[in-house]
Amino acid sequence: MKSGVLVSKKLVAPSILSADFARLGAEIESVAKAGADWIHVDVMDGHFVDNLTIGAPVVKSLKKISRLPLDVHLMISNPEKYLNDFITAGADVITFHIETAQNPEELIQRIKGAGIKAGITLRPKTAVEEVLPFIEKVDLVLLMTVEPGFSGQSFMMDQMPKLDRLRSEIDKRNPNCLIEVDGGVNAETVKYLSQADVLVSGNYVFKNDYKMAIDQLKGS
Ligand code: DX5
Ligand code: ZN
Repeated sequence: MKSGVLVSKKLVAPSILSADFARLGAEIESVAKAGADWIHVDVMDGHFVDNLTIGAPVVKSLKKISRLPLDVHLMISNPEKYLNDFITAGADVITFHIETAQNPEELIQRIKGAGIKAGITLRPKTAVEEVLPFIEKVDLVLLMTVEPGFSGQSFMMDQMPKLDRLRSEIDKRNPNCLIEVDGGVNAETVKYLSQADVLVSGNYVFKNDYKMAIDQLKGS
């Protein structure tokens, strides 16, 4: 999945924010059958971002029915306070925002100490330099290509220099670390994402034929 001569397929993580919440279990099974690799779960608190979504009890229920890893994207203030709830609920990947963490290193240790993958992310206005000190310690860096809060927004091309910088730093310092891109990813914008390993997609997957959309994102 790394940049280089051999091109292998990317992981696709449909964001359930764009799914039919009344049929969440069935939606997850459908995207799994259509070739999804992870299930992206957007957790918003109405404080760090202007939207409220779901919390740990929903993750706990999804864990019982999902055969795919649950990729939990925390868009909440005080992640340290709620972290254990998401670990106990069964998250397989937990990503927190650098802007919200009092002690990022401690959060990373707590996540990894629970035997799951730790990710760090940043809002579009935050400089990529803010996350670079943690590259050796995390399993994943999530690059936001929309302002966090809502699905269905337009991809921000101006974030692409950050992707270049992340790719080169990660290749040098922690080649096992994945780069995930989240926001406005679709058949058009995926053309700019050859350096990413994991693609989150909400609207594009759930508003189209799931298999067609996932195949397109994987480049097959
Ligand atoms: C935005 C979320 C995204 C969003 C992606 O705050 O983090 O995961 O649901 O949705 P699309 O792909 O529609 O931009
Ligand atoms: Zn997300």
